[in-house]
Amino acid sequence: MRVCVVGSGGREHALAHVLGRDADVLVTPGNPGIPGSVATPPEEVDADLFVVGPEAPLVDGLADRLRAAGRLVFGPGADGARLEGSKAWMKDVLVDAGVPTAQHGAFTDETAALAFLDTMADLFVVKTDGLAAGKGVLVTEDRSEAVDAVRSYLSGDAFGDAGRTVVIEEGLSGPELSLLAICDGTTAVPLAPAQDFKRIGVGDIGPNTGGMGAYSPVPVATDAIVGSLMDEAVGSTIAALRRQDIDYRGVLYCGLMFTPTGPKVLEYNVRFGDPEAQVVLPRMVDSLTDLLVAAAGGSLGEAPAFDEGAAVTVVCATEGYPASPRTGDPIHGLDEANALDDVTVFCAGVAASGGKLTTAGGRVLAVTGQGPTVAEARERAYTGADAISWPGMQRRTDIAAAPTVAAAD
Ligand code: AMP
Ligand code: GLY
Repeated sequence: MRVCVVGSGGREHALAHVLGRDADVLVTPGNPGIPGSVATPPEEVDADLFVVGPEAPLVDGLADRLRAAGRLVFGPGADGARLEGSKAWMKDVLVDAGVPTAQHGAFTDETAALAFLDTMADLFVVKTDGLAAGKGVLVTEDRSEAVDAVRSYLSGDAFGDAGRTVVIEEGLSGPELSLLAICDGTTAVPLAPAQDFKRIGVGDIGPNTGGMGAYSPVPVATDAIVGSLMDEAVGSTIAALRRQDIDYRGVLYCGLMFTPTGPKVLEYNVRFGDPEAQVVLPRMVDSLTDLLVAAAGGSLGEAPAFDEGAAVTVVCATEGYPASPRTGDPIHGLDEANALDDVTVFCAGVAASGGKLTTAGGRVLAVTGQGPTVAEARERAYTGADAISWPGMQRRTDIAAAPTVAAAD
């Protein structure tokens, strides 16, 4: 079995690593830290299965184009990928499906948007409707900051066309959960739940990032809770999509918050989480290749099994991330970290220079440790991360330090 993974980040490295247990894997375009990376565009690659990693090519219809060429593809078409491409539409689908979510409104007009903002209590949430590379969400207690965001989003100054529609939400609070469901168009099975750490700073402070670390399993997400979320959120959503003739074959990433009034869906993504993939996938006992082939072919079976242990990943990022990452520094200690037992380093923002890997993005590496418990996995992840250095490297020291509540805002 030959599998082509599309993308170039740490998520794609984790996909390639785990698919590589029983398949020949190539990654396009990949990066110099991912074995099997090729420059050939996906349309020109010959493979038995295509797995599209990031949201942008999915929203842009890559899965449709590959399917039209007769390929077996894991990843939704542009119709389903709109769940991530338009938060306003995603909210409409949630309402249609009867899935609990934050009170919200979508606006193109400033006066109406600001009037709605005034109905919010003390936590203001302003989001771009369109894709903004994870940066289009503002959560603040400062009303004037929220007003400035509404204005700069709507004018196009902050995020171009992605912000010309804004979604304003009621601020919720509680622990968060990332539940990744594998869908075959009709049914879905859950992967092991994970929790990620979105803020840049220790203690969950500072700006939101793509994610500074993650761990799995999550004690608060019992099998019973996952089962009811699969029925009430994921299953209802797939049924709502079907009512619109959308055949969703791919990952449905359900971002949830356990609020005092029950779990609510904050967002759907149409791809594996990053860095959630770096902790969830390595824990798989059953074949990821078989699972994704079954989903892509519309014939999912049982939910896959995961090992009883835990995984923790710590993201190593560049100085200045997320605002203005400094790049071009040589990375030290990668081989030493990878040589440690139960430690795997997944490469994201890296480039090659003079036979050595250098920093080339904000989030550069995710160092995953595995062990019998979250505490032991955490110990290994940090031992691995401690072996790695470059000038100005930043990472959080509190990933998975308090597993049940750490991601609460
Ligand atoms: P999203 O991309 O929509 O998941 O938002 C990114 C992050 O912003 C989430 O993981 C939460 O930490 C936070 N967030 C989003 N929506 C809300 C909300 N309604 N209330 C509180 N925090 C939120
Ligand atoms: N870790 C959050 C995301 O992948 O969107």
